[in-house]
Amino acid sequence: MIRETHDWDCVWIGANLATMRAGERAYGAMRDAALAVKGERIVWIGSALEARSRVASQPVRSFDASGMWITPGLIDCHTHLVYAGNRAGEFEQRLLGVSYEQIARSGGGIQSTVDATRNASHEALLSSALTRARALSAEGVTTIEIKSGYGLDLDTEARMLAVAREIATHLPLSVRTTYLGLHALPREFAHDRRGFVERVSGPWLEAVAAAGLADAVDAFCESIAFSTQESEQYLRAAQALGLPIHLHAGQLSDMGATELAARFEALSADHLEYVDEHGASALAHAGSVAVLLPGAYYTLRQTQPPPVALLRQAGVPMAVATDNNPGTSPCSSILLMLNMACTLFGLTTEEALAGATRVAAQALGMLEDRGTLELGKRADLALWRIAQPAELCYGLGVNPCLGVVHGGVFHGGRVVQP
Ligand code: NIG
Ligand code: FE
Repeated sequence: MIRETHDWDCVWIGANLATMRAGERAYGAMRDAALAVKGERIVWIGSALEARSRVASQPVRSFDASGMWITPGLIDCHTHLVYAGNRAGEFEQRLLGVSYEQIARSGGGIQSTVDATRNASHEALLSSALTRARALSAEGVTTIEIKSGYGLDLDTEARMLAVAREIATHLPLSVRTTYLGLHALPREFAHDRRGFVERVSGPWLEAVAAAGLADAVDAFCESIAFSTQESEQYLRAAQALGLPIHLHAGQLSDMGATELAARFEALSADHLEYVDEHGASALAHAGSVAVLLPGAYYTLRQTQPPPVALLRQAGVPMAVATDNNPGTSPCSSILLMLNMACTLFGLTTEEALAGATRVAAQALGMLEDRGTLELGKRADLALWRIAQPAELCYGLGVNPCLGVVHGGVFHGGRVVQP
């Protein structure tokens, strides 16, 4: 498709593009290239030479991106970043040898964040969430998924989801919300598990869906949380409402959650430290993405990494996300997660970057719209001062991001304005 320059709002000229297109090697890289934007969309990709000659004959707003790398805007496809308080005290306990499971069973852990979140105002929740989201945005993230799950009553869950949506009005970020209805059993239902699962799967889910607050659902299917039967009841109700599914599966044990996710053709099964070849092949057949969360693995000092070789062999696409949450991954750095996915889990740098772009988009059901640099996709870009894409995975606490383009609009202070 040839597009005349009068069809361009602006063009980025001279950059190296890591297009991350599927089926291509070496990051789908194009050197000394150019990318043109019209409205929210990418409308032209070609050589810098050709872009310069078009711009010379027909003036168009152009950015000199010489020497930069441009990747798709990064996508953090698994976070819990709306919450109040923190769990530094629990961190100290764990350093003394108390396990995450012990803390959870004695009423701490998620429960303590639920107490803090229920007591927090909308403004307080928004302000702390914005701090975390801003840090992700500064590292090139343009889309984040945010789960509820620290309210565990309808009112607070709805408030969390509303705060999550509001983040998108303050920052150059698209937000996908997930109703994590089954995260922990709240104290007031301590003697009525069934009653809680019934409410979450029935009236609460219907209310959240009717208010348009959730793009998907999730459950914590685990020994210390909800059984496969309880999770299934919830997922079935969500499926009937047409809501896509994510599932926390195989984080601490293998109790068949991965197969459950596959049976529901979940968009993603997340964590997956405990999954065998049956789980891996079930995910492959279902077309589900494996979302790897090295921050939680690291924080809990786990010793069994997800079976990356098995997932690779089965053909399961792997995404990488922060799991930003106060208990198991108090982390607002997607770049650190890329590093850990390589160093702790054995991903290649290209797999890790795909995991926070193309595959993360797939995990959110948004691959048609974003996640690669291709004609017609959203112009969500991250601009980097690096000499090669592997640097995005190589540094620790290093942020070479120069800014982002979100829906065609440039945000960032470190790039020379046109
Ligand atoms: O993804 N595993 C369940 N949910 C979070 C942890 C939540 C918490 O500890 O607050 C996770 O690790
Ligand atoms: Fe999580």
